[in-house]
Amino acid sequence: MCGIVGYAGRKNVIKNIMTGLKSLEYRGYDSSGIAYIKDGKINIIKKAGPIKNLESKLNYNDDASIGISHTRWATHGRADDINAHPHKQGKITIVHNGIIENYDTLKKELEKEGYEFKTSTDTEVACAVIDKLYKETNDMISTLSKINEVLKGSYAFNIINDDIPDTIFGIRKDSPLIVGISNDGNMLASDIPAVLHITNKYVVLDNYDIVVLKDDSVKYYDRQGKEINKEIKEYNNSLDTISKNGYDHFMLKEINEESEVVKKILNIYTEDNHVKNIYDIRKYKNIDIVACGSASFAGQIGKYYIEKYANIRTNVYYASEYRYQRNFFDKDTLVILISQSGETADTLAALKLAKEHNIDTLAIVNRRDSSIAREADSVIYTEAGIEIAVATTKAYLAQVIILLLLAIKDTKEEYKVIEDIKLLPNLITKYINEYDYNAIANVLKDKEHVFYLGRGIDFYLSMEGSLKLKEISYIHSEAFQAGELKHGSISLIDEDFGVVSVVTDKSISDKTISNLKEVSARGAKIITITNIKDENFSDYKIEVDDYNEVLNPLTVIVPMQMLAYNVAKLRGCDIDKPRNLAKSVTVE
Ligand code: AGP
Repeated sequence: MCGIVGYAGRKNVIKNIMTGLKSLEYRGYDSSGIAYIKDGKINIIKKAGPIKNLESKLNYNDDASIGISHTRWATHGRADDINAHPHKQGKITIVHNGIIENYDTLKKELEKEGYEFKTSTDTEVACAVIDKLYKETNDMISTLSKINEVLKGSYAFNIINDDIPDTIFGIRKDSPLIVGISNDGNMLASDIPAVLHITNKYVVLDNYDIVVLKDDSVKYYDRQGKEINKEIKEYNNSLDTISKNGYDHFMLKEINEESEVVKKILNIYTEDNHVKNIYDIRKYKNIDIVACGSASFAGQIGKYYIEKYANIRTNVYYASEYRYQRNFFDKDTLVILISQSGETADTLAALKLAKEHNIDTLAIVNRRDSSIAREADSVIYTEAGIEIAVATTKAYLAQVIILLLLAIKDTKEEYKVIEDIKLLPNLITKYINEYDYNAIANVLKDKEHVFYLGRGIDFYLSMEGSLKLKEISYIHSEAFQAGELKHGSISLIDEDFGVVSVVTDKSISDKTISNLKEVSARGAKIITITNIKDENFSDYKIEVDDYNEVLNPLTVIVPMQMLAYNVAKLRGCDIDKPRNLAKSVTVE
């Protein structure tokens, strides 16, 4: 999603801004821009394409005093120079993360009042709204106190007013915004990585908080315009979380961090093979797990564990559907929201829906202080550390482990399951390094279509394996219940169709194997990720260890990730920043 970085300082203003902006590239974007004050005047430069296109137009030595910048993931209007942020109307220049839902109505009203628009963006309309309110109030705090009565939707703004050239104003609603506090100036950005090069001291803004940021002071106001205090926090992860540490890609680095993530989770959430610091779900009779993308696929694994160990009926829903479907809420329902970023708009909206119905909410989130973490009744942090690659790996695995601990808490299987999880870190390291994924990736790299086949939990795992391949290699892939294929979709199978199958659940593996033979009989070459050693039912096999029903599903996650990674690498794709994707989808 869009990234915002503003800075008010006494030196290297443009350099500090651009360093911060580049640290947000992982969020996904298709254009970028900057506006800075020099000799009291605003300069706006913006370019479609990667940040290096913008940098080629910048003079880093320009003596700027304050500046705001933006990476745009296009929602309204093409990804071109005109629609790139910043936008300016009258005295107001802004950058924006979010979506203004009523921009069309507002635009028509403003045009009647003489405003002219150069772009097709919702942001330029928001800019005109702020300019109009400022003309009426002649005061920025009053202006920003009023915008939530006019603008519908989500926003995080950095704003410069021509009349006040030493100040950056900010406000947020449902899109993240943090302040970076330092002796060399202050920053206002979408996310912590953007400020770490100058400080580890940060403030998380709440919805409707107004911030007035200068190079030597930061003031905060509530939505009524009353000055308030905000807690200054310290970010304690080392700076290396936003460097590749010698790996070719952040995704490969983050897969290699998974062993440590599992160990960290065990240290934080277990003691003497008992679960601790984990929410107790046993009083509930129904659990709705609500999430998007990989988080929802982790939720499917969680459903399997919760129904197996906690014996609680569990359903998994896509957040984008949950908000509009008929839900049967009752006091015995728990809604669990899973989100790596903690900022996904659909998941946040589902959380609000549950709270409107007075339903208990539990968030399983990776990013501290994120909107979902702050709004849920309870939160469990997955402790995976900052994940830069858009395609999630370590955070997904962490979600699965947390869900397993949630399921086994205070059950008779607790002790043994934790013993099993302790084996996982070494297995992860082994699976990363032991196989020639490149050889098997060669089988898939030129395929146009791939089925990921599985039954039961192997199907749920296949959902994530399929998405990983799709999102970083751009090969069309679909997870499919192996037993369902013969009811129509097997018509697609021929020798050119790619087939990957996850086979770990021995209680139904015979059925899956016979489905694979049906597929093989139609010419497709089959890759399996499996713990079944003695039978030869595929053309290529990634063999994982055969432990038990707890560990076996967990052992295939890394091979699926490594396979997708190697296919994408062979295809020369932009693995960490796949086209069209954003790390945090803060729009609906
Ligand atoms: C994961 O590889 C994808 N990038 C995407 O599906 C992601 O899982 C989804 O957008 C949910 O994001 P969240 O976990 O931050 O809510």
